[in-house]
Amino acid sequence: MSFDAAKEAVGRRAADLVTDGMAVGLGTGSTVAHTIAALGERGLDITCVATSIATEHLANEAGLAFVAPDEVDGLDIAIDGADEVDPDLNLIKGGGGALMREKIVAALAKRFVVVVDESKIVAQLGDFGTPVELLPFAPRTAARAIEGLGALDVTLREQLSDDGNLLADARFGAIADPVTLSAALDAVPGIVGHGIFLGEMVERVLVDGPSGPRTITHQGER
Ligand code: A5P
Repeated sequence: MSFDAAKEAVGRRAADLVTDGMAVGLGTGSTVAHTIAALGERGLDITCVATSIATEHLANEAGLAFVAPDEVDGLDIAIDGADEVDPDLNLIKGGGGALMREKIVAALAKRFVVVVDESKIVAQLGDFGTPVELLPFAPRTAARAIEGLGALDVTLREQLSDDGNLLADARFGAIADPVTLSAALDAVPGIVGHGIFLGEMVERVLVDGPSGPRTITHQGER
């Protein structure tokens, strides 16, 4: 099974978790794009909140109604992709630059479900890099602070976030303690957000790949 086929299979599988009447957070990326398409095909009566302008376009194409996050009190479920998943279900997200909107939407949801192909499952976070969203006011100052936390380098992207902030990738190497690093990044003035999503946010990770579909939760795997 190719990675593209795995993304499609797992993305579509996640749509089965959604039922009529739910408020649903729609993530960003090529995997959850298949979830969005499947939700559209099912013709459900749901209210969605999108995590990026790209996802708003996909939701529109799929015929899904979406509202701003402030128009809902909470979400029944949010479904999103990830760039890396470790054994404690800590994630790296933000490869597509939507990390901050994704974190807000995930935090609104009672259930945060992650959809990935097998290549995203890692023993330790870090190889992908850590996306960060920076206020344009003083990005070099923020980058120096990130290097002070152990980053080998911080590379600015040309792409801006949907909220007009700068995006960068910090290279920490293997991240031994994502909880501590997450808190340290949260405390740097000028960092709007970062792509470490702690496992405590995640209800389950749906995975697909050459060895077939599986579901990982904090209780184990099936
Ligand atoms: C978007 O900013 C990211 O967090 C994506 O969710 C992540 O990069 C996964 O994308 P793919 O599903 O395209 O691999």
